[in-house]
Amino acid sequence: MSPTSQTILSELAPPPAAPAPSADGYVTADGRKIGGVLMDLRHITLRFGGVTAIKDISFDIREGEIRAIIGPNGAGKSSMMNVMSGFYVPQEGEVWFRGAKRPPMRPYQVARQGLARTFQNIALFDGMSVLDNIMTGRLTMMKSSLLEQALWWGRAEAEETRHREQVEKIIDFLEIQNIRKTPVGRLPYGLKKRVELARALAAEPKLLMLDEPMAGMNVEEKEDMSRFILDVNDEFGTTIALIEHDMGVVMDLSDRVVVMDYGRKIGDGTPDEVRNNQEVIDAYLGVAHD
Ligand SMILES: Nc1ncnc2c1ncn2[C@@H]1O[C@H](COP(=O)(O)OP(=O)(O)OP(=O)(O)O)[C@@H](O)[C@H]1O
Ligand SMILES: [Mg+2]
Repeated sequence: MSPTSQTILSELAPPPAAPAPSADGYVTADGRKIGGVLMDLRHITLRFGGVTAIKDISFDIREGEIRAIIGPNGAGKSSMMNVMSGFYVPQEGEVWFRGAKRPPMRPYQVARQGLARTFQNIALFDGMSVLDNIMTGRLTMMKSSLLEQALWWGRAEAEETRHREQVEKIIDFLEIQNIRKTPVGRLPYGLKKRVELARALAAEPKLLMLDEPMAGMNVEEKEDMSRFILDVNDEFGTTIALIEHDMGVVMDLSDRVVVMDYGRKIGDGTPDEVRNNQEVIDAYLGVAHD
């Protein structure tokens, strides 16, 4: 456990009054308007053979929110994100998105509904340029097929221009203009993580899911990534689900936090509420984090 998390978790001041989310949403301490429920996870249970990675967990994510999922190693956080993204289909429970129960569908179909993600282990094409990697983020949105491109060149060209423009906007936004032609394999770790964020943003998601976007980063890189996450939320209105081990980052960025431990949900509330929750404090004591 890092000194930051220890300091934060050992502060046992009584929790301040938290905004209770209503059907219409709530207003955050910093004045941002949070809307209704965007994704609702209901009684999710996920098993791998004999291992129950997620045990009957329910929580929601609201429009405009930065929602963190935290917990010790192996708690089931990435598994939960894989359920959210449609990569895993849980044995029990329902995923509701934008007011509808999600029927069985493939991850690319889920992505088309407005979800994009980054991975705990960077998943980029090392030999391809930054620009081309980011373009792959728009693949699920491309309408014209190869046949259409051959038959109706004009439409395909117009579409290509639109995609390029959007990608350039994201490149400017994340301040990676100077590396747009560089093969991703040559970049330092922190920049790779930023390119992965860019690729996810290229899909213009309603819900952006980030699995440890700051793992392995130094303090300066973490500050940059934190600022970009806040800016994405603020400027594009993107709802964000964030798995993160650095408690300082979680406390700074998130509006509400779900705490998992051994596949169970042991806490859910504002950062102040969860850091003063005894079960959460116990779960973290003596647990090593990176
Ligand atoms: N594909 C899989 N097959 C079998 N077991 C799995 C699989 N994926 C995860 N698990 C198990 O499920 C549990 C939860 O793992 P998960 O990766 O979701 O945890 P996590 O909270 O993301 O941990 P970390 O902080 O280390 O990333 C672990 O016991 C893990 O070994
Ligand atoms: Mg994980």
